[in-house]
Amino acid sequence: MKVVYASRTGNVEALIGKLGITDALHIEDGTEKVSEDYILFTYTDGFGDVPYEVSDFLENNPSIKGVIASGDTGYGEAYCLAGDKISEDYHVPCLYKVENDGTDEDVEAIKELL
Ligand SMILES: Cc1cc2nc3c(=O)[nH]c(=O)nc-3n(C[C@H](O)[C@H](O)[C@H](O)COP(=O)(O)O)c2cc1C
Repeated sequence: MKVVYASRTGNVEALIGKLGITDALHIEDGTEKVSEDYILFTYTDGFGDVPYEVSDFLENNPSIKGVIASGDTGYGEAYCLAGDKISEDYHVPCLYKVENDGTDEDVEAIKELL
């Protein structure tokens, strides 16, 4: 399935690289379009927030099938909450939560999922 991702400081992009995905679409400003079903990788912003460009992208592209969220456990209860919010709003599963760019174990687990 198509992979779409948002990355501000490079962790999610590094994760996509470690997964060996070479044809992923990078969300830059949210105006991008996909014509097929996709899995979204996103970071978490603010305090548990969905990044603004991801919100815009989702409004334009409702064919999301699942979300994988990156965050930092230092944010406590807001850890990876962007994934839970997208899951709720778009009725899709939050497939995985990963800290920053993920461990080797995370990479293997996500490969299995995809
Ligand atoms: C300003 C800012 C706010 C953040 N807020 C959260 C948060 O609420 N919850 C969380 O789990 N991670 C949070 N993070 C951590 C990032 O989501 C995490 O480091 C992620 O891997 C960044 O991905 P990127 O490098 O691809 O942009 C925040 C990071 C920054 C810089």
